[in-house]
Amino acid sequence: LHTTLSLNPRPEKKALWLDCGIHAREWISPSLGFYGHNADITAVFDAVDVYVLPVLNPDGYRFTWTNNRMWRKNRSPSPDKRCVGVDLNRNFDANWCTEGASSAPCSEIYCGAFPESEPETQALANFLRSNKDQLRGYVSVHSYSQMLLFPYSCSREQAANHGELVRTKAGAKAGAKAGAKYGAGASTIYLAPGGSDDWAYNLGIKYSFTFELQDTGRYGFLLPPSHIAKAYNKHIQNVYN
Ligand code: ARG
Ligand code: ZN
Repeated sequence: LHTTLSLNPRPEKKALWLDCGIHAREWISPSLGFYGHNADITAVFDAVDVYVLPVLNPDGYRFTWTNNRMWRKNRSPSPDKRCVGVDLNRNFDANWCTEGASSAPCSEIYCGAFPESEPETQALANFLRSNKDQLRGYVSVHSYSQMLLFPYSCSREQAANHGELVRTKAGAKAGAKAGAKYGAGASTIYLAPGGSDDWAYNLGIKYSFTFELQDTGRYGFLLPPSHIAKAYNKHIQNVYN
C-alpha cells in the first residue's frame, strides 16, 4: 500500500483507513489497532495520514470480556427477543443480505433489518463517505486464518483492478508467509455480502483489503497474548508497507 500510495501523483496528502475489532472475539485485531506501532513504519507517515479505529464493535468486544469470549456480532436488540446482535460485516450496502448472509436474527451472520441499520456501520460509512477523496486505501483487520482478501466477497464478479490488487506488495508478503493465502474474498474463502471492504471499494477506494491475522486454527480466536505480541509487529509492517 505504501508503494502504491507514494506513486500516486496527486499532490494533496493521502490517507489510509484502518479499522479493527469489527468482530468481537477476534482479539488480535484490537491489539494491533491499539499497540501496533513500530519504528520501521514511521516513514510511512510522511507520505500518508493513517486513521485507525481500534475497536469498531465496542459493545461486542466488552461482552467477550464479561460474558461470552466467543461472541462475534454487536449487541443490538433485535425484533426476535431471544437473540441479540447484528454481524456488522454483513450490514453494509454491498449486495446486502444475499447468499452468505442471513436474515435470521439468531444467526451469527445476521445482516440486520436493513443496510446500515447499525450505529457502528453508519459511523464508519459516514466517515468514509465524507473523506473518500482523501482516502486511497481501506484496511479492515480480522482473525483468524492468515489471509489477505480483497473485493469482491459480495459476488463472484472480478474487481476492475483485480490484477493490480493481486500484485500489491502487501499481497506478496501475505502470500509469501507459510500457509498464508490471498485473493478475492468470494473465491478464496466464501461469498460474504454486506462487508465493509466491498462497500468501501464500491465507494471508490480502490485499494481495499481485509486481513485475516494469526493463527491458522491451533488457537484460533483464543490466540494467547504471547503469540499476539509476536504477531502484531510483523502484521503491522505488512499493512503499512
Ligand atoms: N471472515 C470475514 C467475514 O466472514 C471475511 C471478510 C471478507 N470480506 C467480506 N466482505 N466478507 O466477515
Ligand atoms: Zn471477522
